[in-house]
Parts: sequence; structure tokens; C-alpha cells
Amino acid sequence: MATQLLYHRPHLAQRFAKQILSVSVGSASVSGVFFAAPRRTGKSTFVREDLRPELEASGALVVYADLWANPTADPGNVIVGAIRAKLAGAHNALLRLAKSTGLDKVRVGGLSFDLERIGLGAEVSLTDALAALSDETKQLIVLIIDEAQHAITTEAGVAALFALKAARDELNSTSHHGLRVICTGSNQDKLAMLRNSKDQAFFGAPMVNFPTLGEDYIDWFCRKADLPFPLEPEAVWPLFCEAGYRPELLGAAADKFRFDFQVDEATGPEKFAAEVRRLAEELAKTLRSVVHGLTPIQSAVLRVMAATGENYAPFESATMDKYKKALELAGLPPEDIKADVPGVQQALIALQEKKLAWRAARGIYAVEEKAIVEVLRADGLLSGLE
Ligand SMILES: Nc1ncnc2c1ncn2[C@@H]1O[C@H](COP(=O)(O)OP(=O)(O)O)[C@@H](O)[C@H]1O
Ligand SMILES: [Mg+2]
Repeated sequence: MATQLLYHRPHLAQRFAKQILSVSVGSASVSGVFFAAPRRTGKSTFVREDLRPELEASGALVVYADLWANPTADPGNVIVGAIRAKLAGAHNALLRLAKSTGLDKVRVGGLSFDLERIGLGAEVSLTDALAALSDETKQLIVLIIDEAQHAITTEAGVAALFALKAARDELNSTSHHGLRVICTGSNQDKLAMLRNSKDQAFFGAPMVNFPTLGEDYIDWFCRKADLPFPLEPEAVWPLFCEAGYRPELLGAAADKFRFDFQVDEATGPEKFAAEVRRLAEELAKTLRSVVHGLTPIQSAVLRVMAATGENYAPFESATMDKYKKALELAGLPPEDIKADVPGVQQALIALQEKKLAWRAARGIYAVEEKAIVEVLRADGLLSGLE
């Protein structure tokens, strides 16, 4: 909406904050908590506007790193930068660090501690930096990593996660005041990679489905929409579900009619519904045209990846057979049904360029977003492969 009115979810924030802050001994939650929900459904808004203030009100020190805000920045640097920024405002913690790293002769008033000295493989590790912050403030630190799956697309990002694991183990020992790492992400399969295997930093961390906005939000929206005609929540709720629980679509539709005095009480609601559907279809249509423009092998690789989910192993022989099956299902003549490693490799690169597939630093792949899987399934392109 033009005015960027937000619907707050204090109860949800309280519930999450409680879960994050009061973990019982031995609970896996100390390894971190993962929140997953599709794109544009309100995760970042909730984290920034509701969860963060709630955690702070409960006495925690919150560090927020958004790995999506600047797509060209290395995720590793973004995480380090967020921690440095927090330290920049904590003079005593810096003083402590300066002393512990041999700068104890510096006059207190004229202390200058170069934040660049904190980092991955730098003189002052993230563990030291966070421990100094913890000891000085005596607060539990909650580090929120938004769109955390980006961290595993670069070596520095992976290194940052491991550094955080070490920091977490240290800060959760009795001598400090605790560290919780909260990760959010738009894609369950990708997030799962951060926690499913023993060699990952957040092995075993619980995955929580982040609830999308509910009927209470729709009631609020209908009251606040400020249109020349009234909106009935009973009619808008199913529309919102259809539109993938994305508030922006309702907002954009409302913007279209806000100053349209041609529409009246009788025709308005219907026109509003048509506009929401049109916007949702437009998004799906763009995606469809990309998916349907793929070469047969690209399409086969994407479909098999989508059908396999988090266990997808691109070059295993069983997977190779599946590509062939996908080509066959697409109706290719027998002489064109072939899949080899170089061909699959090329297809994977093309899919990444088209933003349909996502690649982790270690060569693990996943479908970029759930909406793609939904379009494939809706068009029957996954049948026979799942
Ligand atoms: N609680 C809310 N009330 C009103 N609008 C919201 C709310 N949550 C999200 N939005 C709107 O939806 C859009 C997507 O939200 P965002 O938090 O960026 O989603 P995500 O992080 O899940 O991708 C934003 O434009 C935001 O203004
Ligand atoms: Mg977000």
C-alpha cells in the first residue's frame, strides 16, 4: 500500500521470542532455529517489525544480517559487517577486545580499535568479537540471518556459518550469556542443506514453518483499505489464498482503485477480485513462459530436480535415468533421448542463469523457488517423475 501500513503480529512474535529465548537444556534449538515460508509473504517484515522489538524488549541483543538486501555483496561479508556494526556501538566491548589483543597501553579516551581487525581468518575471530559483546552487555545475543540460504553459495559465506557455529558453542557455555542464531529462508530445500548433514554448521536445528498472514490480517486489510467501495473479508480471504498469501498483490490491486471513482459499491468488489487474479496470473505467466522456453534437456533437469527435492544428486546414475524418463515423458523420439554429464552440466548452468535453479558452493542444486515447482506441477510436468 502506498502508505506502507503494516499489520503487526505481536502474539506470534511473543511465541517465537519465547521459543528462541527459553530453550531447555539439551534442546536442539540452541543450534539455531530455521523459519521457512515462500517469497514475499512477510518474513522480513515480521522479523524486523515484530520479532526484533519483542526480542529486545525481552532483554536480548539482536544482530540482523539481511543476505538479500545487496545481491552483489558476499554473504560472508554481510554477516561479518552486521557483527562489526553492532560492536561499533559498544565502546566497552571494543575496549575489552583492544586490551585482549595487546593494545592495553592505549589511553582509554583515545582508544581506536579498527573494526577491520574482526573477521573471518582475521586477528580477532567472530567468537572473540561476540564473546566480548556478550561479556560486556551481559545479554543473550540473537543473530538473525535473513535469506540464510545465500550463505552457502560462497566460500566466505560457508566460512561465516562455521565461525558462527564455533561462536555459538563458546557463547552458550556457562562463562558467557548465550548466542542464538535464527535463519530465515524462502526455500525449504535450500535451508534444509544448512541443517541436514553432519558436516553442516546447523546440523539438527529445528525447522519451523513460518505462518503466512491469516484471516485476522485480511479483516484488518479490509478495514484499512480505504477504497471507494467496501471490501468483505469473506470475499477477500479466498483471493488472498489464491494469490499465494502475498500482501503486495492485495496492496497493488487496492492502489489501482483507490482513486477510481467510476467504480461503485456494486461493481467494486468484483473488479477488485479480478485485478488481484490478474496480477497473480501475470506473475505466473512470466514464470511459465520461461519454463516453457527451455530446451528439452534443460526442462528434463529442472523437472527431475523439482520432483526429487532436497535429495537431488545431479550426476548419479539413477538421476541420469530419470532425465531420460523425463525426456521420454516430454514426447521426444527415442533417438533424442540421451542424457550425459556434460549435457546435464550445461543445462544446470543455463537454469542458474535463468534464475530457475540455485547452486550451493559445493555443487548442490535446488529449484530456485517453490512457485516454480508449483507451476510445473500444475502443468502436469512432474507427473511420472515424483
Ligand atoms: N504484516 C504486514 N502488513 C502489511 N504488509 C506486509 C506485511 N508483511 C509483509 N507485507 C508486505 O509484503 C511485501 C513482502 O514482504 P517481505 O517481508 O519482504 O516478505 P519476505 O521477506 O517473506 O520475502 C512487502 O512489500 C511488505 O510491505
Ligand atoms: Mg525477505
